[in-house]
Amino acid sequence: MKSSLLLLAGGLMFASAYAGSPPAAPNLHQLMKDIVAPQTQVVWDIGNQAQDDEGRIVASKLKPADWTKIATAAGKVKQASQTLAQANHIMAAGPGQKIDGEGNPGSFGAKDVQKVLDANPKAFSAFAQQLASSMDEVIASAQSKDAAKLFDVSGRIDQVCEVCHLQFWYPNQKP
Ligand code: HEC
Repeated sequence: MKSSLLLLAGGLMFASAYAGSPPAAPNLHQLMKDIVAPQTQVVWDIGNQAQDDEGRIVASKLKPADWTKIATAAGKVKQASQTLAQANHIMAAGPGQKIDGEGNPGSFGAKDVQKVLDANPKAFSAFAQQLASSMDEVIASAQSKDAAKLFDVSGRIDQVCEVCHLQFWYPNQKP
């Protein structure tokens, strides 16, 4: 009883703090590392199980629980992508956080990413929205348990990641 009241009070405090000030800028680095990369990997890994040794799609290899896992993972990536697509301001990384490759010659650090982000918010938002749409396709394929459709969209997601990384993370790298 006591603890649930405390929880409720905490929730109210959080809600009012949230209403009073604009939401904090999402931390891109954290979202990539904690959600986008690992959860998309779940979609890819489970989807790959639907292939036989010759690369043929065998839908029956995916069980109902697999489809549920795919839809859940895609839902998380979609939510993170939408957060990124809709934010007015994005934080490349948290204070003191180093991004992958930072410090290597020619590699971008968080400050470099921040500059490109601030200069091209519309392009960034459009790429993030594209990822959200791809995840919609994944979710739709899971709802209809359509392995061919899942295979098709899974193969295209890679490109969606890559175009955004090329512009915002390693623009110095030749494609
Ligand atoms: C809207 C743009 C955008 C899209 C789409 C995107 N990324 Fe990223 N991602 C970035 C940027 C910019 C960085 C580098 C800066 C950072 O880590 O904050 C990054 C960093 C990463 C990192 C490195 C994290 C680290 O340890 O430093 C991984 C892994 C990653 N992305 C995976 C993915 C995967 C997988 C996808 C597709 C499913 C994807 N990203 C889609 C913009 C994007």
